[in-house]
Amino acid sequence: MQFTNDELKQKIIELKNKLSVTVVAHFYQRDEVFEMGDITGDSLELAMRTRDDDAEFVVFCGVAFMGQSVKVLSPNKRVVMPKLACCAMAKMIDSIYYDESVKFLEENGISKENILPITYINSNADVKAKVGEMGGMVCTSSNAKKIITTALGEGKKILFVPDRCLGQNIANQMGLKSMVIGHGGDPKEADIICYDGFCSVHQLFTLEDIAFYRKKYPGILIATHPECDPAICEASDFVGSTSQLIKFIKELPEEQKVAVGTEFNMVNRLRPTNTFVLSSTKPECPTMNETTLEDLYLTLKAIDEGSPINEIEVDETTQKWAKIALERMLAL
Ligand code: 13P
Ligand code: SF4
Repeated sequence: MQFTNDELKQKIIELKNKLSVTVVAHFYQRDEVFEMGDITGDSLELAMRTRDDDAEFVVFCGVAFMGQSVKVLSPNKRVVMPKLACCAMAKMIDSIYYDESVKFLEENGISKENILPITYINSNADVKAKVGEMGGMVCTSSNAKKIITTALGEGKKILFVPDRCLGQNIANQMGLKSMVIGHGGDPKEADIICYDGFCSVHQLFTLEDIAFYRKKYPGILIATHPECDPAICEASDFVGSTSQLIKFIKELPEEQKVAVGTEFNMVNRLRPTNTFVLSSTKPECPTMNETTLEDLYLTLKAIDEGSPINEIEVDETTQKWAKIALERMLAL
């Protein structure tokens, strides 16, 4: 039987009231799913707030690495996802590619002891575990600068995985030298050596889009996410994580126009007027968009019937080291 969105919302609310569940939703979720979230936020806020939550089940509307991070931090919680959607960037690296990156540095005269790895939270638990085992830590787009500043204190080369754009953007902000593996350059000359991963959604924003908006609306501000190409971030007036973008835009005077370079669903619900999506195409994250209201309802129904679906499991060793990498971040 097909239900309307309003009927589904009603059923979801009834099940949420009945069960020991917390529904978590990232900003990039479809509006109707986002509205059902008990906890919403950027990657860092979601990781911290779900850790402190005491419901038996976390129902995570987002992409797999986010649900996995909750399970890693709180192995006793039962984490289920209405869709086991994968972040395309997180998929670009696994433990084998990670080992190859370390080997590349070693072959270029940097010993393992002199490498401090940092993984963006947009990575799977196996990569976080590798990083944890090597003494490294996780970062998100809202704390990357702080994490890298701390890491630099150890006087080592930073291996930054998987997002080359975030790594390069932070290096540029801090006046550090960076390079991308496979793009040429000598790792011994760089402070931050980035893996060659990226987010296909954030690659959609171009310098032409910025020129278009600046010409059309003189005085417009350009606000972008640090997963955008360094050239885009350099040409922006503000660069920040999803939460930082929201705060920046909400505090603007009503008449101030702003074009925003991040995922469509979030930008679309930001502000009723004077807010534009910085792209000529619709920058939707395909995997974030996979989760529907019906999926959320069916997930809650399965919990109610005693047979939860799409439950996240992480093996003990991976969990142990990935947790260390995540906790090093949270401690800061
Ligand atoms: P935030 O940490 O800014 O929420 O970003 C997550 C993400 O996947 C952006 O593409
Ligand atoms: Fe991953 Fe990009 Fe989607 Fe964010 S927007 S979840 S980085 S694919």
